[in-house]
Amino acid sequence: MDTPTPPTPRPIDSGAVTSPALPEPDVRLPVRPELADEQPYGAPQLDVPVLLNVNENPYPPSPAVIDSIARAAAEAASGLNRYPDREFLDLRADLADYLLEESGAHLAPEQVWVANGSNEVMLHLLQAFGGPGRTALSFAPTYSMYPEYARDTHTAWVTGNREQDFTIDPERAVSLIQEVRPAVVLLPSPNNPTGTALRPEELNPILAAARTSGPDGAASVVVVDEAYAEFRRTGTRSALDLLADNPHLAVTRTLSKAFGMAGARVGYLAASTDLVDRLRVVRLPYHLSAVTQAVARAALTHRAELMAQIASLRTERDALATWLTEQGLQVVTSDANFVLFGRFEDRNAIWQGLLDRGVLIRQTGPEGWLRVSVGTPQEMARFRTALGEVRQA
Ligand SMILES: Cc1ncc(COP(=O)(O)O)c(C=O)c1O
Repeated sequence: MDTPTPPTPRPIDSGAVTSPALPEPDVRLPVRPELADEQPYGAPQLDVPVLLNVNENPYPPSPAVIDSIARAAAEAASGLNRYPDREFLDLRADLADYLLEESGAHLAPEQVWVANGSNEVMLHLLQAFGGPGRTALSFAPTYSMYPEYARDTHTAWVTGNREQDFTIDPERAVSLIQEVRPAVVLLPSPNNPTGTALRPEELNPILAAARTSGPDGAASVVVVDEAYAEFRRTGTRSALDLLADNPHLAVTRTLSKAFGMAGARVGYLAASTDLVDRLRVVRLPYHLSAVTQAVARAALTHRAELMAQIASLRTERDALATWLTEQGLQVVTSDANFVLFGRFEDRNAIWQGLLDRGVLIRQTGPEGWLRVSVGTPQEMARFRTALGEVRQA
């Protein structure tokens, strides 16, 4: 019998300094063929003064918030010999309370689900509703993690295209949904990287079509990813309003952005109890640590303070968009805490020029465009100066 030739292993960029490696025995790992050439996802993590590349909140928690979190973590630490609460209904109740305050949504704690970042919430959705023989659908350009959730759950991945202005044409979307019959439709609002929010005239027909467009005449689960919802402009609606009539709708949110808690890794979802119960089936036991639960609950008690910067970030975003337009650049209207602007013949040169001046932004989206997160006024001033210099160079 022929022995198959082992492929040359490709090193995976760990991003870390490597220590002297032990000699490795000559064995070949049974890597899934579709993963063989894949690299770990992630924007460059570089040590530069102005970080405007991953849409974080630029304001660190205040001493009062740090103090509450430290106390909560210490209390949780005293019980770490036990596994955490698997259902974490207290945290789910706190989040339901927050959504009532933020969007006027009336939700029972059982309609809320939490995981380690909305990334993990989304993975739970694909684990529960995707899978072999099933399809997930979105509209490009969109969040670049979605195809990875699909890949990791053996779900086929299909994208339709957004229009020139990055909105979704409802008629084309509905006919694509009817053709593809996806188990899951992923619709970020505001969309990353464009900042475009979904309008009711886009979402309503999609939700109606999705009632029976899934596998075997079941519904397609429509996920409205509202990671940036708190930054939306006045008058832009949250899809939370539509939950009562749509048991196949899931609205995901996160503490990573407006709340300024990206490091805590807390994302959540609101949906029908039936939908949430399906996620409870696929989650790992005890997936949400006692420390995470305690930290999230402590942070939520400070929501007024933590969210105080939202208004100023929105103002800063609008001022940035105006300034970029005044520079003769194209700017996509944004409901988020970032702005997509362009178009550049050589966007890499602009990105590199900014980086050389200590400002890190993101090369993402269609060719020629760049995305910048909204930072503090000082950070934005540095961005503006650096961009002016790079464009004159
Ligand atoms: C559209 C969108 N959804 C979800 C996420 C994930 O956020 P997290 O896992 O931090 O909650 C991001 C992060 O950048 C995002 O841009």
